[in-house]
Amino acid sequence: MNRKKIVIGNWKMNPAGGREAETMFRRSERLLGPLRNIEAVICPPFIYLENLKKISRKIKLGAQDAFWGDKGPFTGEVSAEMLGNLGAKYVIVGHSERRALGESDDMVNKKLKGVLAAGLSPVVCVGELSRDNRHQYFDTVKAQIRAALAGVPKTLFHKVIVAYEPVWAISSTKNRRDATPKDSLEMAIYIRKVLSDMSSPPVAASVRIIYGGSVTEKDAGEFLKSGGVVGLLPGRASLTPEKFAKIVKIAEDALN
Ligand code: PGA
Repeated sequence: MNRKKIVIGNWKMNPAGGREAETMFRRSERLLGPLRNIEAVICPPFIYLENLKKISRKIKLGAQDAFWGDKGPFTGEVSAEMLGNLGAKYVIVGHSERRALGESDDMVNKKLKGVLAAGLSPVVCVGELSRDNRHQYFDTVKAQIRAALAGVPKTLFHKVIVAYEPVWAISSTKNRRDATPKDSLEMAIYIRKVLSDMSSPPVAASVRIIYGGSVTEKDAGEFLKSGGVVGLLPGRASLTPEKFAKIVKIAEDALN
C-alpha cells in the first residue's frame, strides 16, 4: 500500500515553449533535496512529457487528462496508454477546469477507468463550485466521488488519489477566497467516509487524499498538519521552481 506523501504540480497550459519547460523542470529538480517519504510529481502539458522524461531524476511525471481506450477514432484525444508510454505515472482526471468545459461525471468515470486499465494512478479532482450554509457541498462531493469510482474494483482503490479542490479557492477563480485547513479537514474526513461506505474502512484508508486550491509555500505546512491530507496539488505555485521545491520540502518535513 502506498501511503507516501505526495506533491503534484499542475502546470496547466504552461509554459508556451519546450525549452522553457525544460528549464523549469531542471531547476525544480536541482532545488529538490533527497526525497525519502515523499513523491514529487509534475504534470506538464502532454507535448512536453517525452522530453522531460529524459531529464527526470527525482520528479515523477503525470498528465493533466487522458481519454479512455487505448487507440481509435477519437480526433484530438490522447489515451492513458500513450501517456504511460511517454513516462507518465499519474493522470489528473476531472479537474474543475475540464468539468467547466463540459466534462461530465460519466466521462470522468470512463477516464478514471482508462487510467487504471493503463496501469497508471488517477488523481481524481472533486470539489464544489461554491458554499452555502445548508452544507449542500458535502452532497456535491459525495456524488462526484461515487460517480467517478462507479464500477471500479475495490482492489484498485489503493491506486486512486482523491484531490479535494474547492473551486472557489482555485487561483484562477474570479473573486476567489482562501480555503482553510479546517475546510480541508472536514472534507477529507467526509471523503474517507464516502469511500468507506463504497468499500470498507481498510480499503478507504488506502486511498490518498490531497488538497489543492491556491496552495503556496506559505500555507502548505498548515494544510499538511491540520488539513487531514497526505499531499498537495499546487497549480500556479508549481510554475515557480523555488516555490515548488519549497512546498515539497515542507511536505517532506511534515510529520504525518
Ligand atoms: P492553483 O491550482 O494552485 O493555481 O489554485 C490548483 C489546481 O487547479 O489544480
